[in-house]
Amino acid sequence: MKIDIISLFPEFFDAFFRHSIIKRAIEAGRLDMAVTNPRDFSHNKHGQVDDTPYGGGAGMLMMAPPIFEAVESVASNYDSTINGNYETDEICDEMSLIGNPGESIRRRIVFMGPTGQPFTQEKARELATYDQLILVCGHYEGVDYRVEEHLVDETISIGDYVLTGGELPAMVVADAVARMIPGVLGAASGAQEDSFYEPLLECPQYTKPPEFRGWVVPDVLRSGHHKNIATWRQKEALRRTRLLRPDLLERPLTKEEIKLLKAIVEEESRL
Ligand SMILES: C[S@@+](CC[C@H](N)C(=O)[O-])C[C@H]1O[C@@H](n2cnc3c(N)ncnc32)[C@H](O)[C@@H]1O
Repeated sequence: MKIDIISLFPEFFDAFFRHSIIKRAIEAGRLDMAVTNPRDFSHNKHGQVDDTPYGGGAGMLMMAPPIFEAVESVASNYDSTINGNYETDEICDEMSLIGNPGESIRRRIVFMGPTGQPFTQEKARELATYDQLILVCGHYEGVDYRVEEHLVDETISIGDYVLTGGELPAMVVADAVARMIPGVLGAASGAQEDSFYEPLLECPQYTKPPEFRGWVVPDVLRSGHHKNIATWRQKEALRRTRLLRPDLLERPLTKEEIKLLKAIVEEESRL
């Protein structure tokens, strides 16, 4: 999969690409990532990419033409990498990482904006099925509305608050999507166990030491009894979800979930 980020501040992403899951996904050839600066597509010799809003108002808006051209450029570069014009070994290697020539390319163009639909685990899973994901970051007071209206497929918000730019939201989305790409997470840290993968919060987790300031790790987790550990984990995930995010339980529950929830209610009524 290829994730292209369109941002006026490519240096924001330097550390992001060089660490942890993203770095490993890139090194393993599961993910290719790049940042493209709309300033490189400015029509002005001073590299201007923003201007005052029509109708007045505070601040500056990013102009549409450099954003459209930056997106069109990364889309056509990806198409030609997949479908032809690869003469060097290096590009052939890259091609083998991200797709097959002749296949129709599944591309999604997303604007990061507070007016969008809230980002969820389900959306991360869906975006991970595309061949190319293009994340467009706004800055200043935002972007010319024609970007949202005529260029992107959707707008995604990472929460009901306003940030200075789309760079942090793009990192949030890219990180969550990368975790959903098959083979990116090792077996030891499967995404299946994370909160929200199943519509439940993750159960409490512990590591060494077994006792710290008198707080002891539950015996069952040190028992080595796999079935009891699995049941404990499912029950504690349900207990936590019921307490912190009861809305996640407003869905058809399995027989096992109903049984465990009844046991939790009984236990708590005895306290
Ligand atoms: C200062 S904000 C502009 C906010 C805009 N004036 C508004 O009220 O909707 C600059 C940019 O940051 C990004 N941004 C800010 N908050 C965000 C959020 N919650 N989710 C996603 N992107 C956000 C968007 O790309 C936005 O264009």
